[in-house]
Amino acid sequence: MLTGLGLAELARRLRAAFTEGATAVELEVPDPDAVDAGGATAAGPVAGRWRGWFDLAEALGCRLEAPRPLGGGRAALRLVPLPPEADWHGGAATAGAGDAGGSERYADPEGFGAVRKLDHPGFLLPLLEALERVRPPDGGRVLVLGCHRGDEVAAFGLLDRPPVGLDVVGVDHAESPLAEAARRFPTARFLRRDVADLPSELGRFDLVVAIAVLQSPAVDDRALLRRLVQAHLTPAAALLLGLPNGRFRGHEPVWGARTRNYREPDLSLVVRDLAAYRRYLHQHGFRAHVGGRYDLLLSAWRGARPG
Ligand SMILES: C[S@@+](CC[C@H](N)C(=O)[O-])C[C@H]1O[C@@H](n2cnc3c(N)ncnc32)[C@H](O)[C@@H]1O
Repeated sequence: MLTGLGLAELARRLRAAFTEGATAVELEVPDPDAVDAGGATAAGPVAGRWRGWFDLAEALGCRLEAPRPLGGGRAALRLVPLPPEADWHGGAATAGAGDAGGSERYADPEGFGAVRKLDHPGFLLPLLEALERVRPPDGGRVLVLGCHRGDEVAAFGLLDRPPVGLDVVGVDHAESPLAEAARRFPTARFLRRDVADLPSELGRFDLVVAIAVLQSPAVDDRALLRRLVQAHLTPAAALLLGLPNGRFRGHEPVWGARTRNYREPDLSLVVRDLAAYRRYLHQHGFRAHVGGRYDLLLSAWRGARPG
């Protein structure tokens, strides 16, 4: 029933099927891996080989099951709707960093505690690129805000040449993830406290990392950034700030910051804040780069940096 349609009409029909409650839709499509003697694939509704079908699935809020080649240049696809947004996400106008749900919002081991960002290429690879850009010196001091179970600390060990002898301080207000971080990284120091209330005795750092924490409603992100620059950075220090640009449905990230349960992403939820951080950092002599996929990552540094 859905063969021979152009992409826009196919997307419309699929969306209608899922709105009416379909639990899966199967399609038979030209197999993009089957190329003719000239190297061309059969024409179909979707360009870009399987990438296009992944993009369509994502736009429809579905996952794409492993395609089955049918022979004769055809393949079978199955699109299955993703579960609803994970309940740790914030309410109405947040981009996904969390809201006033208390310090244990992210502590549920079956909830955010089961997310393994470092196993997702869309989180890990941009994070490693950003960490290379803001790489701390061997023996340098690193402050990780909203460190949860310490994944950002783990990421340093995944760099091509991990920096050695880092003095890492992690801060989070959630008790159990912090305890897990302390078990994973016994040489680091972890403090249970509000990021808005950093003690001056913490001193200055060569790198501050704050991913998916600045937009928590209880945090005044602009005031925190000012405080970091004024009180917690060495003159040559760097910053890595990340804002969530997606939502988890089940344990699958779906690209694009959005208001809760809205179909369309609205990147103004992150762009506005990133632009403000970047402007402030420029005024204080930093150069900045913005990259990332499911987290948008602003790296900022003063002086010469690799990459
Ligand atoms: C979405 S999780 C991000 C964790 C980690 N940075 C990552 O990107 O995977 C947000 C983390 O920030 C912590 N957090 C949120 N608001 C905080 C606050 N005001 N003070 C300290 N920690 C906070 C939460 O407990 C949680 O561990």
